[in-house]
Amino acid sequence: MPVQLSPNVDLPTIEDLDISGRLVLIRVDFNTPLKDGKVADDTRIRAALPTIEYALKQNAKVILMSHLGRPKGRNVDELSLAPVGEVLAGYLKREVLLSDRPMGEGSAYLVQNLKDGEVLLLENVRFHSGETKNNEHLAKELAAFTEFYVNDAFGTAHRAHASTVGITQYIHEGVAAGYLMVEEVRALSRIQHAHRSELLAVIGGAKVSDKLAVLRSLILKANTVLIGGAMAYTFLAAQGAKTGLSRVELDQLDTARSLLALAQEKNVKLLLPVDHLGATEFSEESEVQTIDSIDIPDDLMGLDIGPKTIELFSEAIAKAKVLIWNGPMGVFEWPAYATGSFAIAEAFAQSNGYTVIGGGDSVRAIHESGQAEHVSHVSTGGGASLEFLELDKGAFLPGIEAIIKRDLEIKQLQDELNQELAAQPKLTPID
Ligand code: 3PG
Repeated sequence: MPVQLSPNVDLPTIEDLDISGRLVLIRVDFNTPLKDGKVADDTRIRAALPTIEYALKQNAKVILMSHLGRPKGRNVDELSLAPVGEVLAGYLKREVLLSDRPMGEGSAYLVQNLKDGEVLLLENVRFHSGETKNNEHLAKELAAFTEFYVNDAFGTAHRAHASTVGITQYIHEGVAAGYLMVEEVRALSRIQHAHRSELLAVIGGAKVSDKLAVLRSLILKANTVLIGGAMAYTFLAAQGAKTGLSRVELDQLDTARSLLALAQEKNVKLLLPVDHLGATEFSEESEVQTIDSIDIPDDLMGLDIGPKTIELFSEAIAKAKVLIWNGPMGVFEWPAYATGSFAIAEAFAQSNGYTVIGGGDSVRAIHESGQAEHVSHVSTGGGASLEFLELDKGAFLPGIEAIIKRDLEIKQLQDELNQELAAQPKLTPID
């Protein structure tokens, strides 16, 4: 059954496709960190397993396609998907074939000879320059490999590329979302559609300029917005507080002022840090000082939220029913300044509400704090989850929209074909 995203919008899922014994191309996001030629974090590979395993259970011929890094249209050996294929084969407990090129005769040969229940991993699709340009020719060539197309690459759903958007136009049997995509869309749609009175957002990270769109969007959607991380110092400076040596984006002060004014106009409770942890220099070894005031002395810089802010933020979090967190509260990669982020992780874990964590660093914080299993959803998307939160109610990221639209077109074409067949004169054989 398709997932109903709103009264008029259905997202078809892999279970809606009759893929048994057929070719299915699954776009996954295997853009995983590598270290010394090995996969350093296999979260995204594990997240794609339910869809791949379902397709294999149906005895489909499975073709997997992903990007890795940003090779800019060139073959870059260090960005080969071979190490990913190895990890995947271990999880699937079966051989994974790897084509040496994303495209071309070699891949076509492998696809033609693929047997039911076999897995072929196409080489990094960004080795082809047409991928990021959503090139029509590449999209057609990729579509020619398969009968069905499934997009399970939530992390790449914000990119309108040949393998995520263009390809859908040339698929005729059926398109759908995989399990991970469905889970992510469900979770983030709950934030998007939450009633204003219920929604609380925690936004952190270094720069206001990086999160401008999401800040604006969440101020328009939420009842309470908590701001931490280095970006909070820009907001504090905009309010006239002393920020000492803290990182302040001087060119964003007006923007911060206009966001504060927007929050006031919309009656949004926008909370900033009321105390800080800091030091005299930006160094892991620096002596940690608690700054028990909003103002930061001239010889100190803020590097994390302080104990009173933790209390203030945690109280607000405990009251909310729908919660989203994106961005760390301090320099959390240094243990001395991870306290604020871990406290937010703890408060999210203890919440009785619906809790979603999106974005690279806050996802790391929730995992490192050991609280990941106590929150409702941890997104695999960095940019994708951020861009999802920026969208208006009922709007979708390009990769998701492409599936919804193409599914409707395919169904309409199939209906027209059925009507034509029904209208044809029936011949009655005469004995
Ligand atoms: C990600 O890691 O956020 C996605 O895989 C998208 O990668 P990109 O930012 O290189 O498009």
